[in-house]
Amino acid sequence: MTNSPLTNNASSTAAVHAGEKRFRAHHSLTVPIVQTAVYTFNTAQELRDYTEERMFWEQIEREEYGRYGNPTVRAVEAKLAALDKGDDAILVSSGMAAVTAMLLTLLQQGDHLILTNESYHGTLVFCEEFLPRFGIEASVVCCGDYDQMEQAIRPNTKLILSESPTNPFLSCMDLAKLAAMGKRHNVLTAIDNTLATPVNAQPLTYGIDLVLHSVTKYLAGHNDLMAGAIVGSYRLIDRLRQAQALLGHVADPHAAYLILRGVKTLALRVAQQNSNGLAIARFLEEHPKVRRVWYPGLESHRDHDVAQATMTGYGGVVSFEIEGDAEDAYRFLNALEIPTIGPSLGGVESMISPLALMGYANVSPEERLRLGIRDELIRLCLGIEDTADLLADMAQALAQI
Ligand SMILES: Cc1ncc(COP(=O)(O)O)c(C=O)c1O
Repeated sequence: MTNSPLTNNASSTAAVHAGEKRFRAHHSLTVPIVQTAVYTFNTAQELRDYTEERMFWEQIEREEYGRYGNPTVRAVEAKLAALDKGDDAILVSSGMAAVTAMLLTLLQQGDHLILTNESYHGTLVFCEEFLPRFGIEASVVCCGDYDQMEQAIRPNTKLILSESPTNPFLSCMDLAKLAAMGKRHNVLTAIDNTLATPVNAQPLTYGIDLVLHSVTKYLAGHNDLMAGAIVGSYRLIDRLRQAQALLGHVADPHAAYLILRGVKTLALRVAQQNSNGLAIARFLEEHPKVRRVWYPGLESHRDHDVAQATMTGYGGVVSFEIEGDAEDAYRFLNALEIPTIGPSLGGVESMISPLALMGYANVSPEERLRLGIRDELIRLCLGIEDTADLLADMAQALAQI
């Protein structure tokens, strides 16, 4: 990471400048896409110098093979590390690759981990159905119940993983409390910070050990690529980087370039998404055709106080239930003119998901109800469109139920 005052503290300044060398190849302003799998050596001596064992700070800055590193990818890693106030980061091929790589690297047979019932569905399925094949056991605790979480810790517990805010109910973790619990029991803590982004929350500054992102979402910001990231200390990221060379979940250089381009406007986009989120959540909460709204910026949200203490903005995701049945919810969705029906979040375009049909379609109706996913539940992921236009669109679509 470059160590200039430009890269410290101001997230928009860091988003534009961090990780990028001031003078680049061919005097290019933008970081080039280094589209290669292989890096060559001019002489055997050059190769010898490169492979000689050195201390971290004396290592020669160059690459050897695409699975071990790429300059465009490294620029993203340094930028994301700066934004989340970590020492270092790895960029991987998707958000799920970040989750699975972290778990497969840090845990081994006989280990135990704790996660919450509000974890991203893919994460829950991986922990409950895939990890037991390797002799790794997971306990799922109720999100927000810190006593239950602490009681679930065993002598072989190695990791506590949570999201904050969670998807789709936007529960927020008391990050200081979680970090302290981890330190008390010598257990690593990790936060999936996808929904918050480093603009709204920086879990590492509370003592959380690792931060994960689905970079596919807000960081890249344009719904045009898949990537994930893990940010943390040099020691932990070095372990994850070494495992990445074996597991092979590398990010593509072209995607890395698009992330560099997208992330430069992160703070501007998230500021607009925060304002859209709060305005729409307040509007929906007052609307007679809406039964219930989940948004951490609303006083009615269970974790509003925690969100106020740990976040500088409440994000662009608002979940709500339509007053009525599934057919009413579908009528509302079909009437909308701005948000499109789709499964993701974090892009510049607003997107809306009827969750029982999207993300949870393969889950049995009983399990869906257990998870709180009713047919009338809708997740609205706001883009950067004008607030007034979004409010007008919500009003006209609700009027058609
Ligand atoms: C909170 C969270 N974590 C992880 C993921 C997985 O990310 P990806 O789709 O990039 O694999 C998602 C995807 O929706 C998510 O919402």
